Order: sequence, then structure tokens, then C-alpha cells
Amino acid sequence: MKIVAMVGSNRRESYNMMLTKYMQNRYADKVEIEILPIHELPFYNQDDELNPPEIVNILREKIKESDGVLFATPEYNASIPAVLKNAIDWFSRVEAVLVNKPAMIVGASMGALGTVKAQLQLRQILNAVNVSTMTLPGNEVYVGSVHEKVDEEGNLTDEATVEFIDSVMDNFVNWVEKSVNYASAY
Ligand SMILES: Cc1cc2nc3c(=O)[nH]c(=O)nc-3n(C[C@H](O)[C@H](O)[C@H](O)COP(=O)(O)O)c2cc1C
Repeated sequence: MKIVAMVGSNRRESYNMMLTKYMQNRYADKVEIEILPIHELPFYNQDDELNPPEIVNILREKIKESDGVLFATPEYNASIPAVLKNAIDWFSRVEAVLVNKPAMIVGASMGALGTVKAQLQLRQILNAVNVSTMTLPGNEVYVGSVHEKVDEEGNLTDEATVEFIDSVMDNFVNWVEKSVNYASAY
């Protein structure tokens, strides 16, 4: 199963990137997670959408070939960061490559609420007509106080969090498998 990941942080020491890489390693026997370099996308501009920069075409193809999408979002001012919104905007135009893709959301922040507000908005965005991912319901992964839950190698050290994400990943794998028939019939 091939999953592409979009991480909404372009920060070198990003906790959300850390979490995504941790998941990439931990679930390597179940899913192949490829992290898309969405921070390399230029700002979306409608003037360019019919003749986009090559990176847009490359990432679009990777999404098309994938079985699902993992979104890892920080929270910036009670919303998702621009780098993630920008990517979703590119992939919603000309070819709406996210439509019917099974999707899963995680988010990490140093605050107690762990990206609750950003994820609420992200679910709404993913439901837009030209985005329309099949987002795994429930299974809300909020990693709050993340700086207290990782070691220096970027491993999650909080057992309860690890167990919870294990269960959500199992649910997502099931969701992707069940979604195949739906997507082809739609
Ligand atoms: C511009 C900006 C706005 C932020 N707004 C919020 C916020 O609304 N809620 C929150 O919990 N954290 C907020 N933070 C803190 C981020 O959650 C924290 O920087 C987090 O580490 C970012 O994710 P990353 O480590 O993956 O880059 C904000 C950070 C920045 C730079």
C-alpha cells in the first residue's frame, strides 16, 4: 500500500515532520509512506495553473499513483499553515487529484490541544468539492505537548500516544482497503 504524506511545516526541526518520519519507519511493514516536498511548491497562482511548474506535475502524479494520503499539520494561528493550504489548492485545480483519495490526519504541537483547531479546519477543507478526500472519520490524532513526547532521535516516547497511533493506522489501512471499491464505483 502506497501512501503519500503532506507535512504542513517547512521548519528544519519540525515536530510534525518528526512524527511523520516516525510513522514512516514504524509502519514500514504495512504501508510505504513517501513524504512529498510540498514546501518546494511555489505560491499557487491561477495564471500559471494550465502551465504549472514541473514540481506540480511531479507531485500530482505521485498522488494519483498513491492509495491514500496522510496529512500532518501544525497549527498556525488557529488554522493550518499556508504551506499545506497552498499544496491542497494546487492539487484541487485542473486535475483534482485528491478527489476520492482515502486520507488520514495527524497533528502535533507544543500546546495542550495538539492542533485541534487546525484539524477542524483541515477536515472542512478536505470536504471542498474539488478536494473531496475520503477522510477517515473519528480517529483524531492530536499530539499535544509534543516536545515532552519525543526523544533526540525523533522517536515518540509516550506509550499511550504510540498505542493510539498504532490503532489509528490499523483503522486507516482498513479504510484504504475498503475505499478501493467505492472510489472505482463513484
Ligand atoms: C506563526 C505561528 C503561529 C502559531 N499558532 C499556534 C496556534 O494557534 N496554536 C498552537 O497550538 N500552536 C501555535 N504555534 C506553535 C506551533 O504549534 C509550534 O511552533 C509547532 O512546533 C509547529 O509545528 P512544527 O514543529 O511541525 O513546525 C504557532 C507557531 C507559529 C510559528
